[in-house]
Amino acid sequence: MPTLGLNIDHVATLRQARRETEPDPVWAAVEGQLAGASCITVHLREDRRHIQDHDVLRIKEVCRVKLNLEMAATPGMVKIAGKIKPHMATLVPEGRMEVTTEGGLDVAGQLAKCKRVVKSLRDAGVSVSAFIDADQRQVESAAKAGFEWCEIHTGPYARAFAGAVGNMDDAKLARELAKVTDAGRWIEACGMRFNAGHALNYLNVKPIAHLPGVRELHIGHSIISRSVFVGLREAVREMVWLIG
Ligand code: PXP
Repeated sequence: MPTLGLNIDHVATLRQARRETEPDPVWAAVEGQLAGASCITVHLREDRRHIQDHDVLRIKEVCRVKLNLEMAATPGMVKIAGKIKPHMATLVPEGRMEVTTEGGLDVAGQLAKCKRVVKSLRDAGVSVSAFIDADQRQVESAAKAGFEWCEIHTGPYARAFAGAVGNMDDAKLARELAKVTDAGRWIEACGMRFNAGHALNYLNVKPIAHLPGVRELHIGHSIISRSVFVGLREAVREMVWLIG
């Protein structure tokens, strides 16, 4: 069964809405670990819309589990990651206008650049993951670029799940789940490790958690949203229980 990577960006989103000191994402990292998250994830976006540089440094200090830094494949971010030395860096595409990460990284379309970035990060002692769509060409390119992990974008699956409104035999849902399943097989066949994430929630997570070979699920928005009602520790515990 997979472990939980808790994305705490949206704690910082709330803080940045007022440019205040609370809620502090460092506290979220502590609560998340105490509740059973095996990894804390932060996305240091180039526009710094939520997590700030000083957050990452402070989170690194309190993090006693795996720290995963989501980042764009830019020289500036590679430099920062080299200083912070998270356990893992997940390369994601970034658009200034997007509300959240919208699609997977096009590794196939920028193989030479990905190779360089992956090498720099691995030379700095950072394990590297590619956030990609469930696409065989992207998986094979990720292996060629030297990635050790691939995180498959589960957004299309989550949309199909919502569209099926409880019908687990829905054809579109079955197709999207099969795409993620196949991607997991390709990842393992290429000698990489299989993660999944994006738009997973308390209702749609189980079929993904049961996929063969899946190691980590990276989940943020649904857990932070639920924490408004039950507190972060309980919200994380519930998700850990669901996927375990
Ligand atoms: N994985 C990646 C690569 C992401 O960019 C995000 C969103 O920051 C997530 C997982 C978590 O997605 P969500 O907030 O929808 O759970």
